[in-house]
Amino acid sequence: MSEALVLSEVRGEGARRTALITLNRPKQLNALNDALMDQLGAALIAFDREDGIGCIVITGSEKAFAAGADISAMARFSYMDVHHNDFITRNWETLLQVRKPVIAAVSGFALGGGCELAMLCDFIIAADTAKFGQPEIKIGIIPGAGGTQRLPRAVGKAKAMDMVLTGRMMDVHEAERSGLVSRIVPAAQLIDEALSAAATICALSGPSVALAKACVNKAFEGGLMDGVGFERRIFHSLFATDDQKEGMDAFLSKRPPDFKQR
Ligand code: HXC
Repeated sequence: MSEALVLSEVRGEGARRTALITLNRPKQLNALNDALMDQLGAALIAFDREDGIGCIVITGSEKAFAAGADISAMARFSYMDVHHNDFITRNWETLLQVRKPVIAAVSGFALGGGCELAMLCDFIIAADTAKFGQPEIKIGIIPGAGGTQRLPRAVGKAKAMDMVLTGRMMDVHEAERSGLVSRIVPAAQLIDEALSAAATICALSGPSVALAKACVNKAFEGGLMDGVGFERRIFHSLFATDDQKEGMDAFLSKRPPDFKQR
C-alpha cells in the first residue's frame, strides 16, 4: 500500500458534514510532491461527489501548511519532464474542478506552492502563526501554480510585486490587512474555527452555495484585458445616449446638466 500523504476524515453532524483533509508530510514541512498532489486530487474529487459532504477543509501541520512544491523532486526535472508530464496542471488544478467550497486552514508556513495551494482554495482562515510568501525567485524560478496571477488579485499589484520579486514573507496580520486571509484565529483554535465556518456552509442550500462560489470565481478569474475590453464596449455604447450629449454640452456651456435618463 502506498503511503498516506493526505489524511481524510469527516467531521460534524447533520445531513451534510465537512471533509477535513490534512496534508501529511510533516517532517518535510508538507513539501508538495506529485504523489501527495495525486492523493489530494483524488480525495477532493471523491468528497465533491459525496452527497453527505457540504464543505471541504484542507489543513497542514502546526509548523507548516506547506513550505512549497518539493524542491528535492523538482531539482532534477528538465524542461521536457515538466512539459511532458503537464507538471502542476495535471494534478494541482484538480482543485479547480471542485464545486463545493474548499477552505484552507493555514498554520505556520504557506510558501511557494503552499501559498498557491491556499490561494486555489476558496478562502483562507489563518492561525496567528501563519506566514505567506512566494520565495521561488530565490531558487531561480517563479511561482508556477498561479501565484503571479492570484496573489496580485488578492493583495494588489504593489505587495504582490514586492513578494514575488524579493521573495519576502508576509505575516498573518499583513496578509489579513491585504485581503489574502479572511480571518485570523489563535493557533489552537484554527481547526475549530474552520470547521465552524464549514458547518455554517453545510447547513445552507448546496446548489446555491455552489453557484455563489462559481459567481465569485467569475469576478476573480477574468483577465485584465477582458475586463478592459468589456469596459471599452460599455464606454463606447454610452455615446449613443442623450444624456452623454447633454452632460458634455452642459459642461461646455457652464450650466448644470438636465439629464433625461435616456
Ligand atoms: C523540499 C523542503 C521544503 C521544500 C522544507 N523542506 N521546505 N523540502 N521542498 N519546499 C525540508 C527541509 O529540506 C528539511 O529537510 C525539512 O523540510 C525541515 O525544513 P528546515 O529548512 O530544516 O526548517 P526551518 O529551518 O524551520 O526552515 C523552514 C523554511 C525552510 C523557512 C520554510 O524550510 C525553507 O525555506 N523552505 C523552502 C521554502 C521554499 O523555497 N519554497 C518554495 C519552493 S518552490 P531535512 O531533510 O533537512 O530535515 C515552489 C515552486 C512552486 O514551491 C511552483 C509550482 C507549484
